[in-house]
Order: sequence, then structure tokens, then C-alpha cells
Amino acid sequence: MQNKSRQQIAILDFGSQYTHLISRRLRDFSVLARIYPPDVKIDILQGENLIGLILSGGPKSVYDKTAIKYTNAIFDLKVPILGLCYGHQLIGQHFGGKVKSGKISEYGFAKLKIKNLKLNKNLKLKIKNYNASLFNKLPYNMRVWMSHGDSVVKAPAGFDILASTNDCAIAAMGDLSRNIYGLQFHPEVHHTKDKDKILHNFAVKICKARQDWKIDDLLTEIIKDIKKQAKNKKVFMLVSGGVDSSVAFALLEKSLGKKNVIGLHIDSGLMRKNESAQVIQDLAKTGFDDLNVVDASEIFLTRLHGISDPEQKRKIIGETYLDVAEEWFKKNVETIHESSILGQGTIYPDTIETGGTKHADIIKTHHNRIDRIQKMIKQGKVIEPLKNFYKDEVRAIGRKLNLSRHLLNRHPFPGPGLGIRVLCSESKINALKLPKLKLKKTALNCQILPIKSVGVQGDSRTYAYPLAVWGINNWNKLEKISTDLTNKYRNINRVIKVCWIRSEGMPKFQCKPNTYLTKERLNLLREINDILEQEIRKAKIYDKIWQFPVILVPLTLNGGESIILRPVESREAMTANFYKMSKSVLTKITYQIAKFTKIDAVFYDVTNKPPATIEWE
Ligand code: XMP
Repeated sequence: MQNKSRQQIAILDFGSQYTHLISRRLRDFSVLARIYPPDVKIDILQGENLIGLILSGGPKSVYDKTAIKYTNAIFDLKVPILGLCYGHQLIGQHFGGKVKSGKISEYGFAKLKIKNLKLNKNLKLKIKNYNASLFNKLPYNMRVWMSHGDSVVKAPAGFDILASTNDCAIAAMGDLSRNIYGLQFHPEVHHTKDKDKILHNFAVKICKARQDWKIDDLLTEIIKDIKKQAKNKKVFMLVSGGVDSSVAFALLEKSLGKKNVIGLHIDSGLMRKNESAQVIQDLAKTGFDDLNVVDASEIFLTRLHGISDPEQKRKIIGETYLDVAEEWFKKNVETIHESSILGQGTIYPDTIETGGTKHADIIKTHHNRIDRIQKMIKQGKVIEPLKNFYKDEVRAIGRKLNLSRHLLNRHPFPGPGLGIRVLCSESKINALKLPKLKLKKTALNCQILPIKSVGVQGDSRTYAYPLAVWGINNWNKLEKISTDLTNKYRNINRVIKVCWIRSEGMPKFQCKPNTYLTKERLNLLREINDILEQEIRKAKIYDKIWQFPVILVPLTLNGGESIILRPVESREAMTANFYKMSKSVLTKITYQIAKFTKIDAVFYDVTNKPPATIEWE
């Protein structure tokens, strides 16, 4: 990969949640892409065989005092340039256009109308270029994925407007003679329905990439890297039981030999039903039969008692994992070498959502990215063989290691487990500031709920209220309402549909105060989660759903609580859309949950990511 003469596209990272995804897409077309900071020294780029430049999105505004510093000379490199979101706005500003905060922010789907330059007589000269341009072989109408508050409102001289959406007049612009393009939307996320053609057109047609980068020997490369990093050190590996840590454990044992890797699975009490036993069994089947297990559920529950803030919960869970592990290793491993290192199954989205790159915002602190671990990383005491990959790549690596299909195809499960799927509340609940909902028709029955969840909008974290709606069953209609309302009202970051309530007439949901993590609440959620998993397996939709968080929330009608169903479709967790379940399966599921007397209501989350995240906390 370090071959200097190999063609490459440079990506400048302005802090987007999706920067790494751009390189991943290019990797899919066998094109090498490297990520650089925006203030990269120009001679570094000049020293490479650079064929193109991509400017990523980012959470800041280009016109702000705090705007990210970048090397001006990047615009003189004489290679094709593509700006995405923030990058598009930067091109707009740099070449003398105008960027402003829009009246309407766009988060989620938008319909892109591509201008037919061929029909414009004045642009005859550009026809040749147009055919080889970004939108080559794409329909004139296309669904794209937006996540922005600012917009380019005046294109710079020499730039044509190439496409618009209803809310964004300059959704794409380009100076076709110099091959400089800007897109307000995100072609790198797969919700932009271009089948990756835009990035392919940029790399192959515009930058003329040879497509000679191969990933066949990925596994060999990873094993080589592990050996180099671990040298003669012992690795203490924390295996949470999910796909990532199991694959990382198998990879480490394969690379370093069993005697150099000590695997520990900590049962935190926040696992799914029978999870620990299942993990041990699945790994043992393929020869990884030396996993140690410790039951630490009591200590996790004790430390989490009285805590309701999601970030605090995440940090406590991460710290407790480390404390329990340290104690176990001290007790059970004869000699702890000074040079031992900690192994983790961290994958790329864990890093980026924890603000892992220089300019990225913290959306959530992943359990394997708490401060203590960050310090150990700086000291070179952590090995994470999968940290540059996405879930689907991790699954592919797992298949190469012959890990069982059952283990690899299980829905992803977050490290903090059910701990972040049982929402808590404090005694004092702040009064809600309700936005004035102005809907065209008054027919929408809705209530803003007195709980909050985490979301991601325009690359920044949100912590806002869900809006419950009832009386609408059509998924497409619900998706539109959800996109429109979350775009329009800053304090709503989710829309959820009421599926069932234990009450007559118009419900008025209250937040149950002083509700924390308890064994009873965890058991209740564990049971419901298990029944749902069985139902979706029976209905043969388990593999169609990418992940299905089920969340217990302290919303009450008759003294009970509520369940939120959050099935999503996704490719790599950076973006997602809610899964549109058939009515018959949803009815069966709801019926099963309604049998639990402690449950007062069932909701279905109809929000995409962005503006909501997959998990609620
Ligand atoms: P969000 O909720 O940010 O989640 O859309 C994206 C993906 O990451 C998983 N997730 C985690 N995985 N440790 C993990 O190993 C964590 O702390 C963590 N938090 C979220 C989440 O389940 C989803 O698949």
C-alpha cells in the first residue's frame, strides 16, 4: 500500500462522519485512497502520484471564525477536485461564490433533479465533458442523502449549477473545464441511490484511475501488521461476544498463536438472553476454545445505579469492563508482563462516532474509546486489528477464518449492550419546550414525548425529543412526515409511530421519574428481545434486517413502561433507514409484547440515520 508510484486519490478530512466511507467506496472500485488532514503540507501531496482530490464534509461552517484551516495550495494541484457537503461549500467560498446558513436544513432523503446541460444551447461546448462527468449514466431524478444546515447560495464564476433539490438550489455545481465539482449531498452513503456511480465516475472517468489496487491479500496484510505490532508481547483480549471482538480474537490467535493471546469474556449482565454461553460455544466450534469467562453483573449494576445520562452510562460501562479485566488478569495470569497489550475488536464506526478523527464531533463515546483506553492507545498499549474496517468487511474476514455463519450473521450488538437500550430518568423532569407544530393538515395526532434520545445531524450530536404520531400506517407517508418534521424542528430528532397502547381514547404519555437500570427492567427487556428475535426468524426476515434494537423507555400510561422497536437497514452503520415491516409480522410482534403486563405501549421508530442514530443512547 505504501507504493509511491501507485496512483492515489487524496481525501482531505474536514471532520465528516463519512470521510472514511469515501475511501471505503474507492477501495470497492480497486482505487487506492488515502486520508489526509486539511492542513497537509503541499509537498506531501506533490510527492504522491496524485490523480484526484476529494474534500470531505464536516460539522463546521466555512464562514465561521473557527472554520478549519486548510492548505490553500490544494486548489493549484491541477488534479480534478470533488467537494462533498462542507467540501462543496469550501469550493463555493474559495472561488468567490456565497455560502449561507439555509432557512431550511435538510437531513435525510431529498429528490435531486439533474440539469440537462445538453439541452442548453449556450453550453454546447461542454457537451463532451458532460458525457464523461459525474452524472454520467444516472437518471435525471434521483434520491440522494442530505445532512446540512449551510448551503452554497451563489455559485462562483465559471461554475454551472448541475443539480437542485426542492430545498437546495445548488445541490451540485461544477467547473467542467477545470474538473472541479461540488455536491451538497453525500454520494458516499449508500442511501444516495446512485449505486456508487458518482464516485465511480469521479475516480474512473474524471481522474482516470487504473483500478489496480487489490484487496485479495487483505488478510495476509492484517496478519503481518498484527505480528509487527505485537512482537513478543502477550495480548489480553476482551471478547464482548459480538461479531467484531470474536473475529478480532480469532485473528489474534491465528497470527500470534494461542499461548500469546488470553481471551476474556465479561458477562456484564447487560447481555442478551443466553448470550455468553452461545458465544463460547460458537467460538469453540471453530477451534477457538480457550475463552475465559467471568460473571461481573453485580458490579456493573451497582455502578450504574442512579445514572440516567447516556454518556455517563457509556463511560461507566467502559471503565467497569477495564477494572474487571485488570482484576481478573492479575488474579489469573501468573506474570503480567510490563509489555502486555490490550486487544479490542474496535471497528471504524466506533472510532469516528467517538470523535476519533481530528475535526469530528463526539456523537457517542463507544465503550472501547473511553479516556483510559485513549491514553493506553497513545502509549502503544492497545492492539485493534479491525479498526480500519466496517462490519461487512469484518464479516468477510470472519468467513475467511471459517467462523460459524451463526456467529457472523448475528445482528450487531453494541458493547454497552442492553445498558444503553434501557432508558432511565431522574426524579426532576424539566418542563418541555414544545415547538409550535405547524402542519398543513390538522389531522396529525401527535405528542412530543418527555424523554430524549441521541441523534446525528449535519455531522453533530443532538440530544432531543421524539414525536409520537398515531393514526397513520403507511410507511412512506410516515417516512416523509419524519423527514419533514425533523428537518424543520430542531428539538425533534425522531418520529415514532404508536403501534399499540394499553388505554382508551387519546393517550397522554408521562415520564416515570426515578427509573434506573435494575435487574428487573433488564430481565423484562431481555425476554421481550428474545421473543422478537424468534418472531423475525420465524417470519424469515432476520437476515433482511441489519440490526433490531428494542428499547425499554420510562414512558407510562397506566404505571407500566413502553417498548420501542427500532429495526433498521444499513450497510455499515454510518447511515441507516428504518425497516418497513409487513403489517402481519408487526401485528404478531405487538401482540406478543402486549402480553407483558408491565408494558403500556409499543412504538415503532420511523426515523432514518441521520437525523437519528441507530441506538437511542
Ligand atoms: P449508532 O447508534 O451510533 O450506532 O447509530 C452505530 C452502530 O454502532 C453500534 N454501537 C456500538 N458498538 N460499542 C460498540 O461496539 C459501543 O459503545 C457502541 N455504540 C453503538 C450500534 O449498535 C450500531 O450498530
